[in-house]
Parts: sequence; structure tokens; C-alpha cells
Amino acid sequence: MKYRLLWSVVLSVLFVFPVIAAEPSRTEFDAVVAERCVRCHPRERIDAAISRGDNWAEIEKKMLRFGAVINPRDSEVMGVFWKKPVQPRGK
Ligand code: HEC
Repeated sequence: MKYRLLWSVVLSVLFVFPVIAAEPSRTEFDAVVAERCVRCHPRERIDAAISRGDNWAEIEKKMLRFGAVINPRDSEVMGVFWKKPVQPRGK
């Protein structure tokens, strides 16, 4: 019974912290785009698709068919930011 508190602390550290740490930042989004996408087309194309509200899952499938390299983390980062409005440059 006295280990109960200890266990909840251990479990929070194990499960809660990695989730917080893994929350993608805009910097990471920019890095994924720079690394994975702009070798084939400019970033404007991506920003335009986000503004139109295009579906990321479909774009991803399409890009993979073109030969893009997108790992699960890239996909997650893209998915998180895809839903957010594109911020003007320099912000
Ligand atoms: C191997 C080359 C390649 C890579 C890498 C690539 N794309 Fe594309 N992408 C294309 C081509 C080719 C088109 C044009 C398709 C067309 O005109 O139908 C395109 C078009 C698009 C479009 C326009 C919308 C559409 O449906 O045509 C979006 C958005 C897009 N890419 C997003 C991305 C994102 C995001 C990444 C990175 C995760 C990425 N692409 C990486 C080749 C690539």
C-alpha cells in the first residue's frame, strides 16, 4: 500500500513526460518541411494546401507515391501543424 504513491510517480514520469517532451514545435515542423519536402517543390505549395484545408493523410499518401521519405515522427509533426493556420513569415 505504501508503494502506491511511488508507483504513481514512476508511472507519471514514464508516461506523462515523454508525451510533453514529444509535443512538436514549429521549429520541428519547419525542419521536417526543409528536410523532407522542399527538395521537390517550394514550401509555398505546402502552405497553400494547409490554408485550403487539404487533408494531410491524403497528401502524405500522394507524396509517398512520388518517393518522399516521411517517417512516423515526421508524419506526426506534419499532422499536428497541418491543422494550425499558417503564420506569416518572420513570426
Ligand atoms: C519526391 C518528391 C516529393 C517530395 C519529397 C514531396 N513532394 Fe509534395 N509533391 C510532389 C509532386 C511531384 C507534386 C505535384 C503533384 C501534382 O501536381 O499533382 C507535389 C505536390 C504537393 C502538394 C500540392 C497538393 C497536391 O495534392 O498536389 C502538397 C501540399 C505537397 N506536395 C506536400 C508535400 C509535403 C508536405 C512534403 C513533405 C512531407 C512533400 N510534399 C514532399 C513531389 C514531392
